[in-house]
Amino acid sequence: MKTRVTELLQIEYPIIQGGMAWVAEHHLAAAVSEAGGFGLIGAASAPPEIVREEIRKAKELTDKPFGVNIMLLNPNADEVAKIVVEEGIQAVTTGAGNPEKYMSMWKEAGVKVIPVVASVAMAKRMERYGADAVVAEGMEAGGHIGNQTTMALIPQIVDAVNIPVIAAGGIGDGRGIAASFMLGAEGVQMGTRFVVADESIVHENYKNRIVKAKDIDSVVTGQSTGHPVRCLRNQMTKEYIKKEQEGVPFEELERMTLGSLRKAVMDGDILNGTVMAGQIAGLVSKRQSCKEILQEIMGEAEKLLHC
Ligand SMILES: Cc1cc2nc3c(=O)[nH]c(=O)nc-3n(C[C@H](O)[C@H](O)[C@H](O)COP(=O)(O)O)c2cc1C
Repeated sequence: MKTRVTELLQIEYPIIQGGMAWVAEHHLAAAVSEAGGFGLIGAASAPPEIVREEIRKAKELTDKPFGVNIMLLNPNADEVAKIVVEEGIQAVTTGAGNPEKYMSMWKEAGVKVIPVVASVAMAKRMERYGADAVVAEGMEAGGHIGNQTTMALIPQIVDAVNIPVIAAGGIGDGRGIAASFMLGAEGVQMGTRFVVADESIVHENYKNRIVKAKDIDSVVTGQSTGHPVRCLRNQMTKEYIKKEQEGVPFEELERMTLGSLRKAVMDGDILNGTVMAGQIAGLVSKRQSCKEILQEIMGEAEKLLHC
C-alpha cells in the first residue's frame, strides 16, 4: 500500500508505532521497522545520552529507518533535538510544545518532522511551521490525550491541511486502519496494540492486564489538572480520581503519579502504577510478534480497502 506517508518515511506499510515513554525502547522500535512499519524510540524524559544509546542499539538490530519521539517541554529537548541530527535519524514525532525553533536544523539535516496534534488549529499551525505530516490523535488513545475523538478529528484535520495526516487513537486492527483511510488519513499510529508485542520489554503483568481488559476498563486521570491521561483502572486511578473530586491540591495529585508509569512498565506494579493504554485495549487479546501484528492488520485492511 503506497501513500504519501510510506513515501515520506520510506516504509512498506503505513503504520507507525507510537513513541511511548518507557515502552518504546530500541527492541520494539527496531522490530516494528524491521517488519516494514516505522518504529519510534520514545525519548520522553530520558537523559540525552540514554537516547543516543537507544538509537545506536536500534541501529544494531535494523538497517531500516526508524524515528524518535521528543517531548518538547522536556528540559532535555534541546540536546535530544541535536542528537537526532548527529545520529542521522529519518524522522521525529514531537509532542507537548512547539518544534519551530528546531525546524531549520532538522530540515537542513533531512530529518522529517511529524508533530502529534489533537486539534485543527494545532495541525494548521504545525503545517505553517513546515511539518512534513501530522499525527492526529483522538482521545481514545492511551497516555496523554486531547478532547476530540479520532472519528471526528481526522476528517476535520484532513480538510484543513495539505500535508499527510496519520490517524492515532483507538486503532487496533485492520478495520481501524481502513476506517482511518476512509476518513482521509494516509497512515496510522498505534500504541496500545504494540505494548503487548513479543518484542516489547513491558512487564508481563502489564501486558496481561491489557490482554484481559474489557471495553470499559480505561479511565482518564488528571481531567481537573488540565493534564488528562488515559490508563486502565486500578487502585491508583480509584484513589486519584477520588482525590480529584475532593479537590486536593495539584502538587498532591502530581506526587501520586510521579514515577508511576515506570512502576507499572518495569516493576509490573499494575495496582499502584499507571497502566497507560487506550480504549482499544478491550480489542487487544493476542500476544504476537511485531511482524505478525503488521502482517495481520495489513491483510485485514487491504481486504477491506480492496487494495
Ligand atoms: C504506555 C504509553 C505511553 C505513551 N507515551 C507517549 C509519549 O511519551 N509520547 C507520545 O507522543 N505519545 C505517547 N503515547 C501515545 C502513543 O504514542 C500513541 O499515539 C497512542 O497510544 C495511540 O493510541 P492507541 O493507544 O489507541 O493505539 C503513549 C501511549 C501509551 C499506551
